[in-house]
Amino acid sequence: MNDSRSDSGKRVILGVTGCIGAYKSALILRLLQKQDVEVYPVMTRSARQFLGPLTLEKLSGHRVIDDLWDDSSAEIEHISLARRGDLLLVAPATANVLGKFAHGLADDFLSTLYLSTQTPVMLAPAMNVEMWRHPATQENLKKLRERGVQIIEPGAGYLACGEVGEGRLAEPEDIVQAALSRLSADDSLKGRKVLVSAGPTIEDIDPVRYLSNRSSGRMGYTVAAEAARRGARVTLVSGPTQLQAASGIDRIDVRSAGDMAEAMLERAPDSHYVVMAAAVADFTPVQRQAHKIKKADRQDSPALQLQPTADILAALGSQKPPGQILIGFAAESENLEERARRKLESKHLDWIVANDITSRDSGFASQNNRALLLCADGSLTRWDLMSKREMARRLWDAVLTHQPTQTVKS
Ligand code: CTP
Repeated sequence: MNDSRSDSGKRVILGVTGCIGAYKSALILRLLQKQDVEVYPVMTRSARQFLGPLTLEKLSGHRVIDDLWDDSSAEIEHISLARRGDLLLVAPATANVLGKFAHGLADDFLSTLYLSTQTPVMLAPAMNVEMWRHPATQENLKKLRERGVQIIEPGAGYLACGEVGEGRLAEPEDIVQAALSRLSADDSLKGRKVLVSAGPTIEDIDPVRYLSNRSSGRMGYTVAAEAARRGARVTLVSGPTQLQAASGIDRIDVRSAGDMAEAMLERAPDSHYVVMAAAVADFTPVQRQAHKIKKADRQDSPALQLQPTADILAALGSQKPPGQILIGFAAESENLEERARRKLESKHLDWIVANDITSRDSGFASQNNRALLLCADGSLTRWDLMSKREMARRLWDAVLTHQPTQTVKS
């Protein structure tokens, strides 16, 4: 095996185990290579039933190791390979390999490699829905997560066995994205607990109707992903969205403003950073009707009686423990700076990101954003149009260094 380094200098050991999704490992390998990552494939014996080693060998330019006993140097080889990688990524990972890793069984090359490596480990499970839900699998996953192994959650959909449900290997693009984030991780938030809220809330009127807003949740999800990339332990309290949380994030799903308040207030006291990026409904129906409101029952149009919801951010600000950094967002359609500053002060925030929601190319439901970042010390930074990912990066940079890039005293 040659010992080349790619331009990025990053090396991934790609473990492939035996399930129908094994063919996707070739695409994962290719996508990693496109990002200048050197890939060393390792296959289990059953993976070879689904994909010929020659495919991965030709694509990677490295001999595929699939047997602990295939030559006398193999024992040395797994130690040298274990030391050489920046990441061990197993995709797809079967229920069997999760069990072996969780219990420290080492009866083939891949499981022996796992035990001998110090590099970060990411697993992208793929299996039948019942196997995925089985308590044994869930316990193994729990054990692995507690050990710092990052799990790239499987998606839901049609499975090779003909059933529908969770267990489908995550999309190769998402797996590669998670691997790249891990490879470029820094540890500026290592050991810190970060609590983020994201998405809209839903206030039910009756079993079929509700009040909500246009928030996609993308800004909060990106802020959470960036914190995780920097080594934080992240909890994401999310209203209903179409998004998947980045791997390693503990996601709590909520629906209404009341649910979100409960989830945030319970978890905030022991968090180092709290980011309130959710678009929380300001009003909720006074009473949720248990049955669908029928038009035939009424002569007139029904009046919807609303009451204010609790302001979660203000509550977090009033009970902020010493040392905690509290970050809010503001959605404004006029007097952006002045109104955001008022929110920063009245809710006792350390930072606020203020968005102009009238702007067409940014904000709600967009990939991009432009905003003002205001700090409690009076400084202000203007962020022109940029991706939400870039904005999340700059937000954490600013908060962690406390030196906004372009400071103007207001
Ligand atoms: N927020 C909250 N709880 C609410 C409403 C808002 O925690 N019930 C938070 C949002 O998550 C955001 C900040 O408060 O971080 C500002 O939200 P925004 O909608 O801009 O302003 P409001 O405080 O709701 O005031 P207004 O609607 O009058 O602008």
